[in-house]
Amino acid sequence: MILVTGGAGFIGSNFVLDWLAEGAEPVVNLDKLTYAGNLANLAPLKGDARHVFVQGDIGDAALVDRLLAGHRPRAVVNFAAESHVDRSIHGAEDFIATNVVGTFRLLEAVRGYWGGLPEAERAAFRFLHVSTDEVYGSLAPDAPAFTEDHVFEPNSPYSASKAASDHLVRAWHHTHGLPVLTTNCSNNYGPLHFPEKLIPLMIVNALAGKPLPVYGDGQQVRDWLYVKDHCSAIRRVLAAGRVGETYNVGGWNEKTNLAIVHTICDLLDELSPRTDGQSYRSQITHVTDRPGHDRRYAIDARKLERELGWRPAETFETGIRKTVAWYLANPDWVQGVQSGAYRDWVAAQYGATSAA
Ligand code: NAD
Ligand code: DAU
Repeated sequence: MILVTGGAGFIGSNFVLDWLAEGAEPVVNLDKLTYAGNLANLAPLKGDARHVFVQGDIGDAALVDRLLAGHRPRAVVNFAAESHVDRSIHGAEDFIATNVVGTFRLLEAVRGYWGGLPEAERAAFRFLHVSTDEVYGSLAPDAPAFTEDHVFEPNSPYSASKAASDHLVRAWHHTHGLPVLTTNCSNNYGPLHFPEKLIPLMIVNALAGKPLPVYGDGQQVRDWLYVKDHCSAIRRVLAAGRVGETYNVGGWNEKTNLAIVHTICDLLDELSPRTDGQSYRSQITHVTDRPGHDRRYAIDARKLERELGWRPAETFETGIRKTVAWYLANPDWVQGVQSGAYRDWVAAQYGATSAA
């Protein structure tokens, strides 16, 4: 069995659902259930004995010790994190607590458990740390995409905390021999994405008749990957990645934010047209830019393809169509995540009336 952390969040829940759809190996899912964790994401697993959910913190060493000793996983996949850049600008405390201190405590607990395993299990054990392309900083328009050798130049409190966690994972391998793997992935999108991030926020706001808040000139570039492709990459790295290595994961889909918002509006115009006949594009508003906003990310995922044969299955066109269709088909899920805490956040970030 494997231990997944953060498996009630966007990528973690997609990973757990896909993992159990692909095979029979059970999962223990440790998640603190912050505002971003949502048990509704895991509803299809209700009554499935292969999935054990535990509410708790990766920084709770005693709890993690108990879970490791009790379930004896052959691997840990660490998704748990504070993940939203804008929130890290408003306040970084939780990011340091979970992404840095939490990862440290998790590594220590796993090191203790791994050190006590019989030889064969020790050799087979893996700790896979899920990280981001944002640790590499921002690219000039014509610069080559990030390779795994790119220097770390994190620019936001979020990316700095993730870079710190990546360094800890690296050090626990080099110093203590812990068999780690790290993946650095570009922007994900797809089902179950919390509507504080660009793509789900734009879909949800468009359908609600609210403004579509584009930061600054909207010419920032991100490299988008459909979440199911990220999950397949993680499964592949866990199965066959070389211990101690990092693997970049990306979709070869560089797009400006404005192009993304236009695509979403055009799909909604086709699939759920406004009753007044106008395009959803008329709801686009340019708002104050994010402080320290990274201009461009792009991932060179050739190492993962060369060594492990992984390629994304979706193009951006197929993935974004599936995503918009999923949000249209799941208004109850959207309603469910729009809790009081979420509304407070939108009011703080965009002003009470502009996008809320
Ligand atoms: P998310 O914010 O949707 O989910 C994070 C999950 O972690 C939530 O379920 C939350 O409850 C849980 N969590 C937070 N603190 C915890 C703690 N202390 N202990 C246990 N659980 C805790 O994030 P996501 O978008 O699914 O991202 C998952 C991971 O992938 C993160 O490490 C993130 O840095 C990384 N990543 C995300 C993207 C992306 O585009 N979303 C891209 C690359 C990498
Ligand atoms: O690159 C990987 C990273 O992608 C992950 O590590 C992060 O966890 C994930 O949140 C994401 O970070 P971004 O900051 O790129 O994602 P976000 O969806 O917040 O923003 C995407 C782009 O859209 C970014 O340039 C900011 C812009 N944006 C975002 C929001 C929420 C807007 O223009 N308007 C908005 O309202």
